[in-house]
Amino acid sequence: MSLGLACAVAAAAGSAAAAPRASAVDPVVVGDAMPEPLTSLPGDVARGRSIVGDRRVGLCLLCHAGPFPEPASQGTLAPDLAGAGDRWSTGQLRLRVADARRLNPATPMPSYLGSGERRVGRAWRGRPVLTAQQVEDVVAYLGTLRR
Ligand code: HEC
Repeated sequence: MSLGLACAVAAAAGSAAAAPRASAVDPVVVGDAMPEPLTSLPGDVARGRSIVGDRRVGLCLLCHAGPFPEPASQGTLAPDLAGAGDRWSTGQLRLRVADARRLNPATPMPSYLGSGERRVGRAWRGRPVLTAQQVEDVVAYLGTLRR
């Protein structure tokens, strides 16, 4: 999986290169959560859904399944995202998307807001994979995934 993933992540990095970057954030982590929103604008559920579902932006479905059509094109490496809004608080979801490695240094999940992500295309080194607003959008969407 790692080679294919590296390519896909590199492709995602290239396709989103024109997107505006968020300014550097220094999010506060409390326990296993990031309780404070990263942006002043609340996350947008519809935008979050499209980031999660788009295999060139969030790439989430490379590893996760979720409530999307075409189950065959969804990953089985990671927990199904269905019910994520029941399992985790908003702050817990935020930390998992922003910096999963902080919770599990060995996780294959990219640290989407970290600038130290190495498994991305060269253009992406030293920059976050998702903007802070995109993380908020994804978190808002995940919060709606209830069983
Ligand atoms: C390279 C694979 C990979 C990618 C890409 C990935 N994840 Fe994950 N994710 C994982 C794994 C594996 C776990 C299990 C936790 C761990 O590894 O510590 C996980 C855990 C999670 C969890 C907690 C799972 C639970 O128990 O409910 C959430 C939420 C999550 N990911 C969301 C996302 C979102 C949203 C994206 C896209 C923006 C994403 N992931 C992209 C591999 C991935």
